[in-house]
Amino acid sequence: MSKTIIANWKMNLSIKESLILANKIAKIKTDNEIIVCPDFLSLNLINQKLKRKDIYLGAQDCAAYSYGSYTGEVASQSIIESGAKYVIIGHSERRKYQKEDNEIINNKIKQALKVGLKVILCVGENLTEKKNKKTKSILKTQLKGALKDVLKKELTNISIAYEPIWAIGSGKTPEAEKVNETSIYIKDLIYNDFKKKVKVFYGGSIKASNSSEFLKYKQIDGLLIGGASLNYQEFSKIFKKNYVR
Ligand code: PGA
Repeated sequence: MSKTIIANWKMNLSIKESLILANKIAKIKTDNEIIVCPDFLSLNLINQKLKRKDIYLGAQDCAAYSYGSYTGEVASQSIIESGAKYVIIGHSERRKYQKEDNEIINNKIKQALKVGLKVILCVGENLTEKKNKKTKSILKTQLKGALKDVLKKELTNISIAYEPIWAIGSGKTPEAEKVNETSIYIKDLIYNDFKKKVKVFYGGSIKASNSSEFLKYKQIDGLLIGGASLNYQEFSKIFKKNYVR
């Protein structure tokens, strides 16, 4: 089964650096799906200059409105015109630094779906919530809020990235078996509400050496990778370890 590997470069690379790395990644031989998420300004350029078109581009965010006087915002329509097929919505860094709540995230999802972007919705608990055994209820609240009034047919264009906040950039990960269980929990929750199957990815401190631990589980459909996706050697090793055909 082919898996999805998403590179989230966050705000770590310049336009030039993004283009160089994208061209290297485009040479990786794999049957897995690769989605590269550079910053907004690099999207268009990478789309035009990329030699191979079978890696996909994704944005890291989109506006919660379609058009209008929203200084500094980027509309979903511009994102899709820039060549992106995907958009990450609700990343914990945006929830934290931009104070995005489930309602804003819900609006962003609707805007993205309206123009035909595929959504990667991020959810996950923080350390206190984990310690208090609140993971499931937090995930439920985040998912219900983010997917409010989304139509069943639109679920085809949504996948979920389970990213425990305490695992992002910390070098710590949950046990892969636990992530598989959480992934089943998320899938069941959505199936009960929408009667649709979704893909669930894991994100948080993934590197080449621990990637196969997670990818070997059937219910983990892919990985969302931050830090390790910035280094070509490290990132490309993930595909050598998880070659599927
Ligand atoms: P990390 O980030 O791989 O650096 O932990 C993951 C993410 O924030 O999506």
